[in-house]
Amino acid sequence: MPQRRVLVAVTGGIAAYKVPELVRALRRAGCTVRCAMTASAGQFVAPLVLQTLSGESVRTDLFEREQEGQIDHIALADWAELVIVAPATANLLAKLASGLADDLVSTLLLATRAPLLVAPAMNVNMWNHPATQANVATLRERGVCFVGPESGPLACGWEGEGRMAEPAAIAAEAERHLGAPTLAGEVVVVTAGGTREPLDPVRVFANRSSGKMGYAIAAEAARRGAEVVLVSGPSALATPAGVRRVDVETGLEMRDAVHAELSKCTVFIAAAAVADFRPAARAEHKIKKESLADGEALTIELVRNPDILAEVGAASGRERRLVVGFAAESQDLVAAARRKLERKRCDLIVANDISRAGAGFDGDTNAVTFVCPEGEVEELPLLSKREVAERLLERIETLREKRS
Ligand code: PMT
Repeated sequence: MPQRRVLVAVTGGIAAYKVPELVRALRRAGCTVRCAMTASAGQFVAPLVLQTLSGESVRTDLFEREQEGQIDHIALADWAELVIVAPATANLLAKLASGLADDLVSTLLLATRAPLLVAPAMNVNMWNHPATQANVATLRERGVCFVGPESGPLACGWEGEGRMAEPAAIAAEAERHLGAPTLAGEVVVVTAGGTREPLDPVRVFANRSSGKMGYAIAAEAARRGAEVVLVSGPSALATPAGVRRVDVETGLEMRDAVHAELSKCTVFIAAAAVADFRPAARAEHKIKKESLADGEALTIELVRNPDILAEVGAASGRERRLVVGFAAESQDLVAAARRKLERKRCDLIVANDISRAGAGFDGDTNAVTFVCPEGEVEELPLLSKREVAERLLERIETLREKRS
């Protein structure tokens, strides 16, 4: 990771004694490392140790004039390509989840646009506490990555989950985040989430897509150095670092947003669950239930939405743009995916079997099969959506190499 800029934020737990080893591992890998510490972290590891090992001055205080004069805290937050929080205490997780910025470290974490890699360390009961678990879930939703904690004997005398991951494991995870920019020069447009098709000012037709799959792909493409545009249906997820997000609501809006980005796009990935149909007319006012007699049926006329993926497939020359579609199927997975591949002129279809537990909509995992035009089929095991995104982008890179 030559010259990559890593900020290590240290908070006050006994595992801070392992941070010098982490700094050494990152430096061995070629990174430039700067450290920032909370006041309590200074109880466990001396700033001078981190300063000596990193070869850079260590920040310990938000209001210390000399430190702020050398590099102000916003400049430090902007400088980092990756921020590692190690160890991350329960207190720090709570502050980060609720957006508190009352000291140097919490302020840096709120100010930075760099991806966050968090290595929690605490007593097992603190880790398992519902408040901590809720904070971790919130942070994951916002795209924060976690390494550890591991299980084992803890410094406090308890045994269980709560040990900070080993410095080598944290450094390896950092390496994954800072991997070579293999998609530099590519402009990747990803659609994500479900669309909402309004019936009247109150009611919509929607589906269960959370956006998790598409957001994971966008995050991974950005991590690999691509310029990424994420065209997203309504979603509670945070925009991944380095990604430009365009919010849309309906299938028609998604189509317009995609077409607006298409001239520069070199890779198009359609992970959204676009409504196939929309109400033919949108009532200006809320449809009153009193307009129907008891037991009388309300007839809603639906019309087809444009097929965005098929339009992009038809408009894309093979040499110019790679087109990747998804297929959500509950039977005849590969045959149905192959039909979509041909009809929508894709270079690859990612087929998910939505009848399988843990796959498809909303969860954090997916089980997909890659279906290629040359007849090749690769079935992946159940993986996290992040891992699916990694495997997909590896495949896209291979397709790119073959084409060029
Ligand atoms: O968002 P998550 O909760 O993480 O769930 C992920 C997912 C299950 C939504 C995702 O993995 C997925 O399978 N997305 C496609 C779902 C779908 O609508 O499939 P489809 O078979 O109807 O459509 C096939 C392809 O055409 C898809 O790439 C879709 O984006 C695209 N399409 C479909 C209809 C349409 N009008 N325009 C499109 O572009």
